[in-house]
Amino acid sequence: MKPLSGFKDLLPCDYARRRYLTEGWRDIARRYGFVEFDGPTLESLELYQKKNSGGEILTQLYQFTDRGDRPVALRPEMTPTLARIVAAHDREFAKPLRWFNVGNCFRYERQQRGRLREFLQLNCDLLGERSVTADAEIIALLIDQLRHFGFGPNDVTIRLSDRLAWHDFLEQFGIKKESTTEFLNIVDKMEREPQEKTEEKLAALEHSGLTVEKLREFMTSPTIPVLEPLLEELAARGLRDFIKPDLSIVRGLAYYTGVVFEAFALQGSLRAVAGGGRYDRLIHDLSNGAVTLPAVGFGMGDAVMLEFLKEVPLATQREEEFHAATSSCQVYLVIADEALRPQAVGLAQQLRDAGLRVAFSLASERVGKQFSAAENGGASFAVMIGDEWPQLKIKRLSTREEMSVPQGGLVEWLMDCSKG
Ligand code: HAM
Repeated sequence: MKPLSGFKDLLPCDYARRRYLTEGWRDIARRYGFVEFDGPTLESLELYQKKNSGGEILTQLYQFTDRGDRPVALRPEMTPTLARIVAAHDREFAKPLRWFNVGNCFRYERQQRGRLREFLQLNCDLLGERSVTADAEIIALLIDQLRHFGFGPNDVTIRLSDRLAWHDFLEQFGIKKESTTEFLNIVDKMEREPQEKTEEKLAALEHSGLTVEKLREFMTSPTIPVLEPLLEELAARGLRDFIKPDLSIVRGLAYYTGVVFEAFALQGSLRAVAGGGRYDRLIHDLSNGAVTLPAVGFGMGDAVMLEFLKEVPLATQREEEFHAATSSCQVYLVIADEALRPQAVGLAQQLRDAGLRVAFSLASERVGKQFSAAENGGASFAVMIGDEWPQLKIKRLSTREEMSVPQGGLVEWLMDCSKG
């Protein structure tokens, strides 16, 4: 049987590749003083239906009624969960908070390369700080997440925009704040749809004289004044090369209130590698006004990154390491005489206590077969337990070199070797 469409089985080698990614994510997030948190995978449906929470994501929810008749949903993203948690624990932490999470999310999305229905997402969020430095810090962290894996400004671009610029623009056409989301959704799809479709959508909404041409003209304005302070901060960090101001980035989520951005690979047609922005009202809205906390953050998925990583030397050089990670043991005990099995398992226990990865045949097997198992398992040493007990014959499998070590000295001998 296969897994459900959009879900993945991770074989050991795939898992090693994903660990390389998640270990990098954690390492870089910690360098920025971020601490890891987690929350539940299943949430009440209400969390996503509150005002300004979802957007398009609402149509992609895995939602159902649990056995206690509660409407629930698998989380499609981490941000509402984070907002709920920080609102509930607001008084326990000094601000700003720098929190990150690596967790599974679920979206009933259409199948395409780099998009799955269950995926892993890194989220980094800075909460309790309104200044542009917080925006710069988050974007710098996103860039460093990419640089860590070997991507430079010729491989990725962060396209940067601002919802405030859009609100001001839309206001000129009599469009109220409450209806900007509908207009932004049109803009979000504009690049991927024929012009007539965009015109049709515009015609269906209330406004005074907004046309596709006017939208285009605005989107190609040479400067975006509201972004200047942020661009200066990023330039001071030496990261300006990664950034492209681009008003066509509006993002599909309803809760953003200021700067928004998406990271794209420059080659290929993969979807965004990461996306995020400032959301100063979400925590306020989700807590019914009890807690007001400005916030900015981003999410980065594993699927697009893993596709993307296939193209950079830093990651491809590690392929051998990923394959090596599938080996199960360092030491294989070859039991040449079944009468000595109790001594062999005792020895295995001692070696494992010392921290070595040890395997042996669980049933009586020919010696030749046991040696093959040692090779297949990736062992560095095969230790023969046979006629010469308590003396042991050791074979270094890479060189076929053989030596003899007394049983009492084996742990020390192997520990010395594994250090070298
Ligand atoms: P998002 O743009 O919906 O933002 O997702 C962020 C990233 O998650 C995407 O750029 C992509 O790498 C990955 N992703 C999203 N959907 C899928 C999918 N179906 N399969 C594989 N990867 C996917 C958010 O989720 C916001 N909550 C991010 C955020 C955090 N904003 C502020 N803080």
